[in-house]
Amino acid sequence: MTVSAQDVEDAAARLSGVVGRTPLHRSPRLSALTGLDVWLKREDLQEVRSYKARGAYNLISRLSADERAAGVTCASAGNHAQGVAFACARTGVHARIHLPRTTPRQKRARIALLGGDFVDVVVDGDTYDDAAALSHAYAVETGATPVPAFDDDRTVAGQGTVAAELLDQLPQPPDAVVVPVGGGGLLAGVLALLAERSPTTTVIGAEPAGAASMAAALDAGGPVDLPTLDGFIDGAAVRRVGTTTYDAVLRHRPRMTTVPEGLACVEMLDLYQSDGIIAEPAGALAPAALRLPLDLAAGSSVVCVLSGGNNDVSRYAEVVERALVHEGLKHYFLVDFPQEPGALRRFLDEVLGPDDDITLFEYVKRSNRETGPALVGLELQRREDYEPLLRRMADSALRVELVEPSSPLFRFVQ
Ligand SMILES: Cc1ncc(COP(=O)(O)O)c(C=O)c1O
Repeated sequence: MTVSAQDVEDAAARLSGVVGRTPLHRSPRLSALTGLDVWLKREDLQEVRSYKARGAYNLISRLSADERAAGVTCASAGNHAQGVAFACARTGVHARIHLPRTTPRQKRARIALLGGDFVDVVVDGDTYDDAAALSHAYAVETGATPVPAFDDDRTVAGQGTVAAELLDQLPQPPDAVVVPVGGGGLLAGVLALLAERSPTTTVIGAEPAGAASMAAALDAGGPVDLPTLDGFIDGAAVRRVGTTTYDAVLRHRPRMTTVPEGLACVEMLDLYQSDGIIAEPAGALAPAALRLPLDLAAGSSVVCVLSGGNNDVSRYAEVVERALVHEGLKHYFLVDFPQEPGALRRFLDEVLGPDDDITLFEYVKRSNRETGPALVGLELQRREDYEPLLRRMADSALRVELVEPSSPLFRFVQ
């Protein structure tokens, strides 16, 4: 079965008065930065702080009386579980939600709060896949209905209500809509609605570069497991897209782009510092994609779905670090210092520029050796300061090795 615009509009009618209609805000900052007319669809302002309540509520509210009585189950490490908990509390349906042990306490607490008495939270298994296996076993054993996070027509139709709303909120259909992509549920729903109701709107799917499972599916001719996965953009880091969502992408052929994790961090910080918006990494994917070449005419109206705002404050240190690295402002080196007095002073005087800042310095003096390596982290004020720094390093008597971002040592210091 394929999801139609009518299915999405029926879902919108079901959601009405239960799931929030989120504001569409113009972004003067992103408009000035890109030369486009940029709007943000603020799904971070949902009660569950992401669009995920839409799909979950649409699916659960359509269950028969018998299915409701048997309850539902899902596995999730975050936003989907919050959507299911919200929907269960509103419909009075019981849910068994399986979370992997890695789920932060704050998220567990939010899920329990949203679901109240209607939700049992089981924290077990090391990974999402373990939790999914437990949820599956529970469904087989008890007859509970699984609530898939993306690979289900009812979920897809619910997520598509984001597009129905934004069409309603603008005087004219936008030239483009940019949507973050994990398993592809939101993208499939948005495509279903816009293909029929606004066929001139270009839909652009933005995937994390380290978890580009839709691009991999398109290359392989069908959903495949990614051999490696960068889990940093946790909301959208999905190893394998759904068959329903892949079919929707094949049918409607949206443009796809991949957003480097560091670029999403740059946008998260701008959203936070300039606009006062708390976005989670997946939430910043669509606005971050605007900094990539998207081949949109100047002045085009573009809506970015800011899909979620469940960011843990403890993650900001890593976000700042990744943003600096992405912008070429943070670098790590192994410097082989002669073990003699004055060596460090010479490094400071002869190699470092006046504005270069040491952010990390790890050194242990060794006996019986002429030189000893130090791990040095440097933050530059300007990207242009990098080449002169490398030249001064090459000209100095010190042996300096750049720590490549792809190396295990780099991941260790990050
Ligand atoms: C905030 C946020 N954005 C985007 C996504 C991607 O979702 P989808 O599987 O619908 O592509 C998710 C999924 O959990 C999410 O939580």
